[in-house]
Amino acid sequence: MAIERIVDTSAHDDDADEQQIEVTLRPQRFSEYIGQERLKKNLQLAIAAAKKRGEPIDHVLLYGPPGLGKTTMATVIANEMGTNIRVTSGPAIERAGDLASILTNLEDGDVLFIDEIHRLHRSVEEVLYSAMEDFKLDIVIGKGPAARSVRLDLPKFTVIGATTRAGSLAAPLRDRFGITHRLEFYSENEIQRIIIRAAKLLESKIDSSAASMLAGRSRLTPRIANRLLKRVRDYADVNGDGIIDTAITVDALKLLEVDDLGLDPADRRLLSSILDHYGHRPVGLSTVSALTGDEVSTIEDFQEPYLLQIGLIERTPRGRQVTVRGAKHLGRDKQQELV
Ligand SMILES: Nc1ncnc2c1ncn2[C@@H]1O[C@H](COP(=O)(O)OP(=O)(O)OP(=O)(O)O)[C@@H](O)[C@H]1O
Ligand SMILES: [Mg+2]
Repeated sequence: MAIERIVDTSAHDDDADEQQIEVTLRPQRFSEYIGQERLKKNLQLAIAAAKKRGEPIDHVLLYGPPGLGKTTMATVIANEMGTNIRVTSGPAIERAGDLASILTNLEDGDVLFIDEIHRLHRSVEEVLYSAMEDFKLDIVIGKGPAARSVRLDLPKFTVIGATTRAGSLAAPLRDRFGITHRLEFYSENEIQRIIIRAAKLLESKIDSSAASMLAGRSRLTPRIANRLLKRVRDYADVNGDGIIDTAITVDALKLLEVDDLGLDPADRRLLSSILDHYGHRPVGLSTVSALTGDEVSTIEDFQEPYLLQIGLIERTPRGRQVTVRGAKHLGRDKQQELV
């Protein structure tokens, strides 16, 4: 992404400050993990049962839009199980041999967290199948006629896979997860609690109406809630006495160009360019991408899920279309949309 957007849901990996904040604020236990109640209940049950049997829990696949707490949940699971977590990602494992060395270094009960699991290389994925299913590693030693295949025993471990796109996962891989769960957007109330918790950890004072206002503009996403809080806190430190009240929040959000639904200029541009060219008719994603200059994957993974969630756009078999609510939000509902 060319311009770093305040409300984009991706992690700003190159921002050391942000990374630090994510680590500081990351819940470690179920008791600190706000929301996703159904997921927590299911996992708590699976963990209790596994502990009783003295086994690791089933492999877990977590999917859903960025910033909703997949990585956080993987850490919580490992903490609750009292095991180590080894973190890697799909694109980071380049060869089957890389995976083999990760797997043989695990200990019984360990959690192997594979982020962006939909981006695993095919050859690596195949090795993972038997590792997940039978805790065996098939490797070929030698080359040509002398090559022979050996089967190694692996420790009993748990894979936690995370992806923003469950649809891009090969069926045989998907089938090897005993627990598959979609993370949902949070309610505004939950986001408000996340903001209040984060403010406490950051030792900054925020009043409840300011927290509620921020919650309404955080795209129902904890990562954005934390990021906005941090920016507003900076603003309060510089332009006030450090206390975050509604007046400070309104000013800071104006400066950040985040509107009352949490949209930024790029979101509004997306909506208005569809309206300009297609009115309320459906339009394909690649056309939207050509109109706004953003990549299809950026629109699909980061921008669109929230706009769909709050009903500003709709997905139809023939493409995306801006809803009446979407047009209203831009103040264009009275306008004749004749294109
Ligand atoms: N349920 C929660 N309660 C409190 N804070 C949360 C919760 N979920 C996530 N967060 C906060 O939001 C931040 C982002 O969460 P996380 O990194 O787990 O998202 P993710 O789903 O893994 O995103 P990505 O798809 O980009 O990897 C975390 O640092 C954490 O502080
Ligand atoms: Mg993550």
